[in-house]
Amino acid sequence: MADKFKAPRGTFDVLPEQSAQRRRLMRAAREIFGRAGYRNIVTPSFEDTALFERGVGKSTDIVRKEMFTFEDKGGRSLTLRPEGTAPICRAYVEHGMHTLPQPVKLAYSGPFFRHERPQAGRYRQFNQIGAEAIGSASPLADVEVISLLSDLLEEMGVPGVELHLGSLGSIEARAAYLEELKSHLRSRSDELSEDVRERIEINPLRAFDSDDSGTQAVMADAPHLLDHLDTADAEHFEEVKELLGAASVEFTIDPTLVRGLDYYTRTIFSFVCSELGAQSEIGGGGRYDGLIKQLGGPDTPAIGWAAGIERILLALDEEVELPGTDLFIAVGGKEQQAKAVALASELRHHGLSVEMDLAGRSMKGQLKQADRIRSANILVFEEDGTSSLRNSATNERQQVEPAQVLDLIRP
Ligand code: HAM
Repeated sequence: MADKFKAPRGTFDVLPEQSAQRRRLMRAAREIFGRAGYRNIVTPSFEDTALFERGVGKSTDIVRKEMFTFEDKGGRSLTLRPEGTAPICRAYVEHGMHTLPQPVKLAYSGPFFRHERPQAGRYRQFNQIGAEAIGSASPLADVEVISLLSDLLEEMGVPGVELHLGSLGSIEARAAYLEELKSHLRSRSDELSEDVRERIEINPLRAFDSDDSGTQAVMADAPHLLDHLDTADAEHFEEVKELLGAASVEFTIDPTLVRGLDYYTRTIFSFVCSELGAQSEIGGGGRYDGLIKQLGGPDTPAIGWAAGIERILLALDEEVELPGTDLFIAVGGKEQQAKAVALASELRHHGLSVEMDLAGRSMKGQLKQADRIRSANILVFEEDGTSSLRNSATNERQQVEPAQVLDLIRP
């Protein structure tokens, strides 16, 4: 026998019985985005590699180790998108969206790719849902964007969710603090993990995120950026906190919060879920006030987030039953098939869900199949040309003409 194929490591199939909950999530998201004026954007699954190198940052784990990068037949270096913000900013600049009324409010969902070590909640192809508000520096934008994810998780009934909030300040104001942090790290470099030691000069903030115990001990005494914000950044952060309160969004200030992408400025946030174990971040994001300019566009402040669809579903850990069918048509012989096909087609045009046997089952087998798919009604075309309709809930049966069926079963 030939070898069987399996889905590649770190990827998964979504089977029909798992898709109902996913559809519920997408429906809830569409409504929440729609009510706040966020419109859908779709960007390609791959982009120029340089977009992520410049946008996400060369010192990040994503760019250093996790990108699926390949050369196309024309010798161009392309990368399967590891995240959605840089591509959306590329689209904003490419399509001159700065000429539209600001902010431009965008929502998206789709597959993303990172070559990470697979485990529960961490995959090499996963799906994100996200929102970006581009073109407003106002704390009102921060609060609107954060509220979208808070509302979505609440609407879905995700248990054990906590919002962690921090601020990284603006790039210029952060510079002095980073020097202080680097000298703290340098003074105790022999206690740090190799990974952190290597990145003292290029990405010292990541040390806060290390799971190495030596590094954690060094970071316990490290200076915090939140104590070093300049006046404008501190005021911005105060307003965000105040307005989140007004929006009834609960949060915890986390002075050690950092994120895995280089583009963040000012507000950063992370929704963690106690149900999720090691990969506890269900979604997160922040401001990226310098990114559009860095990608060749005008100086444009922006904020957004992305959440892992699979992580939301894992946290819910419940399957929603697929809806049953409105009608199953069972046929007593080949002569009845044309009638059944014609009726199924007509009723489907009227919006009803209708199934019939496609596997050559006996009458008994067909009735069993109707039960299995939880058909609300069963129409039997008997061999003698008569037809009867049974309501599965009441078990009432009546002789009918095909033309009557629509009115009898229309919900
Ligand atoms: P991120 O934190 O890298 O941010 O990813 C956002 C979310 O995607 C995570 O919180 C997690 O739920 C999910 N996620 C990430 N990696 C994986 C994986 N390997 N397997 C399963 N789920 C995963 C971003 O991607 C930013 N673009 C968010 C953003 C938007 N910031 C501003 N705007």
